[in-house]
Amino acid sequence: MYAHCLGTDSLSNVRVTVCRELLPAGAGPLADRFELVRGGLDADRERILALVAGAGAVVSDPTVDVDSELLAAAGPQLRVVANFAVGTDNIDLEACRASGVTVTNTPDVLTNATAELALGLTLAAARRLGEAERDLRAGSWTGWDPRAYRGLELSGATVGVVGLGRIGARYAELLSGFEVELLYAGPSRKPEAEQRLGARRAKLSELLAEADVISLHAPASPATRHLIDAGALRLVRPEAVLVNTSRGALVDLGAVAAALREGRLGAAGLDVFEGEPAVPREILEAPRAVLTPHVGSATVHARDAMARAVAENVIAVLEGLEPPNPVR
Ligand code: GLV
Repeated sequence: MYAHCLGTDSLSNVRVTVCRELLPAGAGPLADRFELVRGGLDADRERILALVAGAGAVVSDPTVDVDSELLAAAGPQLRVVANFAVGTDNIDLEACRASGVTVTNTPDVLTNATAELALGLTLAAARRLGEAERDLRAGSWTGWDPRAYRGLELSGATVGVVGLGRIGARYAELLSGFEVELLYAGPSRKPEAEQRLGARRAKLSELLAEADVISLHAPASPATRHLIDAGALRLVRPEAVLVNTSRGALVDLGAVAAALREGRLGAAGLDVFEGEPAVPREILEAPRAVLTPHVGSATVHARDAMARAVAENVIAVLEGLEPPNPVR
């Protein structure tokens, strides 16, 4: 292993490249041990490729494509790519494996934060808080109106969780006080979660047809790309609320915008967008959409814990130990 090749004393010469930014909770421990370089938030691809050259560790985030070009730019001494995220769809895992590069992520520490945001977006979209707030700020609130802003009551609703993994299960757990009926869809049965949460497994098509709220918690992959497209939206109830805090690629935004515009979808709460940070005009202009800028894990607690996890993973691999969060 690396430490054996270099000797622990030499680790201070090892370069750790943070492609963009890492919070002090993670940057501190890394700077204490290694040569730490950072690209900064506005680092473009060219700068990132230059900065990774010669690095023993690369810290990436969901905006950084870690592909064979980046691995080649880094060079054969690269030991670990530590992603500041739980999702690893920005990383070519096969190319990393082929180059003998360990990949790590930051699971668990962001589960609560992301599930809480999903709950927040569920309520905000269901209760039309986005448009209500916009109207008030624009001075177009003319007074209490029994017809205005009528939304979906979450209590007693049927909620469909697509992907009952860590975050999906936590979201379902947070909903328990609302006495919802829980459906879930996913590649495998989750008997423990079914039992604990009272969730019933359904085919995606059934879930889409039955749910008042559809919340996406699946990773981005070729199999989940545009899981919610025009065809899927033809199945949903016209008052249904769609929530996405997973990855933008799961949703065809054009199809969602059209369904909102045409009254075939009740509301949407979206935190992630295919092609972000660009957000297509049609979704910005769609009615009953609450949109947030990829802030699922953005609590002080979660982001600090993610930064610490990144550092722990990098340190472990560079010291020749098994990292806490390897991605296999
Ligand atoms: C954030 O988007 C993550 O995957 O952790």
